[in-house]
Amino acid sequence: MQKKIMAVFGTRPEAIKMAPLLKALKKNKNYKLVITVTAQHREMLDQVLDLFKLKPDYDLDIMQKNQSLSGLAARIIAKLDQILSNEKPDLLLVHGDTSSTFIGALTSFYHQIKIAHIEAGLRTQSKYSPFPEEMNRQLTGVLADLNFAPTKNAKANLLLENKDPAKIFVSGNTVIDALLSVVDKSYDFKNELLANLNFKQKKIILLTAHRRENLGQPMKSIFQAVKQLTAVNNDLEVIFPVHLNPAIRKLSQEIFAENEQVHLIEPLDYLPFANLMARSDLILTDSGGIQEEAPALGKPVLVLRDTTERPEAVKAGTVVKVGTKTKKIFIETMKLLTDSEAYQKRAKAINPYGDGQAVSRIVAALDYDFGFKKKRPQDFKF
Ligand code: UD1
Ligand code: UDP
Repeated sequence: MQKKIMAVFGTRPEAIKMAPLLKALKKNKNYKLVITVTAQHREMLDQVLDLFKLKPDYDLDIMQKNQSLSGLAARIIAKLDQILSNEKPDLLLVHGDTSSTFIGALTSFYHQIKIAHIEAGLRTQSKYSPFPEEMNRQLTGVLADLNFAPTKNAKANLLLENKDPAKIFVSGNTVIDALLSVVDKSYDFKNELLANLNFKQKKIILLTAHRRENLGQPMKSIFQAVKQLTAVNNDLEVIFPVHLNPAIRKLSQEIFAENEQVHLIEPLDYLPFANLMARSDLILTDSGGIQEEAPALGKPVLVLRDTTERPEAVKAGTVVKVGTKTKKIFIETMKLLTDSEAYQKRAKAINPYGDGQAVSRIVAALDYDFGFKKKRPQDFKF
């Protein structure tokens, strides 16, 4: 009998990482898929829904300017409650570590609906770093019935928390499936600045920053480092697609006003963004997803955070954790800009997070768990 699966998500990265799976489930006769977006992000979510041609069945439309975590949680729970009462899905799918993820899982638990957690098992074991994501994912982990761990390291974290090994599948990360579907060597940028950028003669740094725990002084000190880097490197161009959080927009405009080498642009659609990553020399970011995508593209990443839940690429050498202090960021970036041997060592393309087959493994695991298939799928191995 057909099973009803409801996916609940709300931010840009969840949408990017869920999209290839939702497309596969939509085509699969074993399942009836219901898509519920919280719209915790509005514009940045819609960009992704448009690109992957996904049409939500329900849109909770809860985003507010400068929203608080409690307000977000309250609005999601109030609106999702009614939808779950009406739809009664057999399984609820959530992804990662956002408020939409955790509150989606919590509301599902109140309705005694089975929960599948994709990108399960990432941990820093540090309560406030990243904040609130570490607790969002741990709490979702406690509630989840099925766990799709992207790597064997993530599975090991879940086993330490006594999760049932029979309910953990190592799938790889769906972000690699998404990435491989959009990166294209002959892609032409529509954005005027990017279309006219001389990628061969200039050194291009791609910068993104949005973590809540970095708001305020840490972000200021990150931006100061970038400013200092442009002051001593004439051939450096920094592209910074600025997150729509008003606090980040204000600070970046203040610090980079009149800096002609730092280009503050609107958040890019995933298609141009992925292709910009592929053509940049170096990426400075506090993002989670970008730490997974850049190694697959052979791009060195300096992570602007004190912790990372993604140790695989650090171990492989593509990603270095540099924190948020101006001096350290400056020194580490200069090393990569000036020492080509050090750069080459960090620019090797590796894929610890996936091989582009995460979606087919997840669908096979769902088939197995629901009894549509007898054979348990093989785990992703790196
Ligand atoms: C959220 C997630 C974070 C994830 C990030 C991805 C939580 C608590 N945080 O953080 O885990 O890494 O998304 O980007 O779940 N805004 C807009 N339009 C948009 C998106 C955001 O205007 O399309 C503005 C709004 O003023 C909003 C603010 O940004 O209040 C912050 O958005 P929010 O989702 O609360 O937090 P993020 O920092 O984006
Ligand atoms: N991304 C995008 N446009 C941008 C910046 C990022 O499409 O201007 C993509 C990026 O490739 C990755 C995802 O958004 O897939 C990461 O989102 P974000 O950094 O906001 O969240 P995190 O991964 O830290 O939760």
